This record gives sequence, C-alpha cells and structure tokens, in this order.
Amino acid sequence: MNKKIIIAVDGPSGTGKSTICKLIAGNFNLSYIDTGAIYRSVALSALENDISFDDEKKIKKLCIELPLGFSFVDGANHVFIGDRDVSEAIRTPEISMAASTVSSKPVVRSSLLEMQRKLARETTQKGTILDGRDIGTVVFPDADIKIFLTASDEVRAGRRYDELIAKGHKVDFNKVLEETIQRDKQDSQRSIAPLKKADNAVEINTDGLDIAGVYKAVAKLIQS
Ligand code: DC
Repeated sequence: MNKKIIIAVDGPSGTGKSTICKLIAGNFNLSYIDTGAIYRSVALSALENDISFDDEKKIKKLCIELPLGFSFVDGANHVFIGDRDVSEAIRTPEISMAASTVSSKPVVRSSLLEMQRKLARETTQKGTILDGRDIGTVVFPDADIKIFLTASDEVRAGRRYDELIAKGHKVDFNKVLEETIQRDKQDSQRSIAPLKKADNAVEINTDGLDIAGVYKAVAKLIQS
C-alpha cells in the first residue's frame, strides 16, 4: 500500500501559510487542506443559526452535520456549506475572531479531529499538506514534515491589512494589528490544542522573505 505523505504547516495568522501551501500542493502533486476554513465555517454557521458557542450539544451537532465541501474553481480554493459558496463570507474580520473563539471549545476540536485526519488520508494524490495551528502537535503528530512559520506582529498585520484592502474592506491598520495580536494570544493560550511549535518542526521566520523566498525554503525541506 502506498503511504500518503503528510506535511503539517502551523503558525500564527499572517505568516503566509495558505499561500505557500497552495503553491507546494500544486507543484508537488499534493492535496491541500485549509483547516482554518473548517473552524471559520463552523463559526459562520453557528452565528447565522443563533447557536451559542457555549451550547455544547448544539455546537457538537453542528460540527458533525455541517455539509462542508471544498473545491478548486478558476484556480482558487472554494469552501461550500451545502450548495452555498462561503469562501468570502468566512474571511471577514468578525469571522476570524469568532473562529478563534469557537475553536477554543473542546467539543469543537474533538468533533472535527477525525474529519481532518480522514480528509487528509483519503487523498487520491501523493499526499496532503495541511495548514493550521495544531496540525504538527495534535492532528498529525507523526507527520512526515513539520513546518512552523513565524513573522513579527507588524509584518503579519500588514499582510492581513493588504489582503482586506484588496478585497474592498475598509479597515484601519492599527485595528488590524490589535486584532491580530489578540487572536494569536487567544489561539496560543487556550487550554486545548494551543498554537505551538511541535518539538520537531522546522521554524521559518518569514520576515523579510517574499513568497518566492518562503517557497524555496519549504520546497528544499520537502526535497531533502
Ligand atoms: O488559519 P485561519 O486564520 O483561517 O484560522 C482561523 C481560526 O481558526 C484561528 O484563529 C484559530 C482557529 N484554528 C485552529 O484553532 N486550529 C487550526 N488547525 C486552524 C485554525
């Protein structure tokens, strides 16, 4: 049986995880799973259906029954809840913060754990690259390659700011910086599966590196 390669990419927001994962997946014939999109979809759906993040029973049901779908449309990854394309709706600053909050709930993490493993292992490609916060520590502690991307708060907030402006959101840099710091603090300090570098992960600081520079560093690791 051919064993599927698993590559775990973790790190705080704005370190370029998704951009790099998409490029690596395309060039190395791997599937890509953006695990943040799963937590974002749960947060969006809970808010739209007036489900409190503290209502364990309803939140668990939502996680288990959420009809999530992923597809590649016109060169971009799209996320669906049922027939509805939520790719844009899950990327607002409000949903970023809500995803961070809902993802700190133990019932949410335990309900979504097996789903992430199954999605990654069932790929028809050579393997899967996943990005998130706990991929190398909890979801795939035995991943073949573990990468932890970092960057300074200002650089990460700047990337997030540029992304939001490009999408037409009216945002203030200092507010984006504040939210970036607050979200990462929440993700790093939660009691379950916090954002943390796995002991055997290779850390890449992306300050001063453009996409090509980060790609080169990650590709080198994979090739070696
Ligand atoms: O990667 P992202 O910014 O799209 O993730 C949104 C939130 O989801 C993030 O603030 C924390 C949570 N998350 C998580 O707890 N574990 C993951 N593996 C991925 C995301």
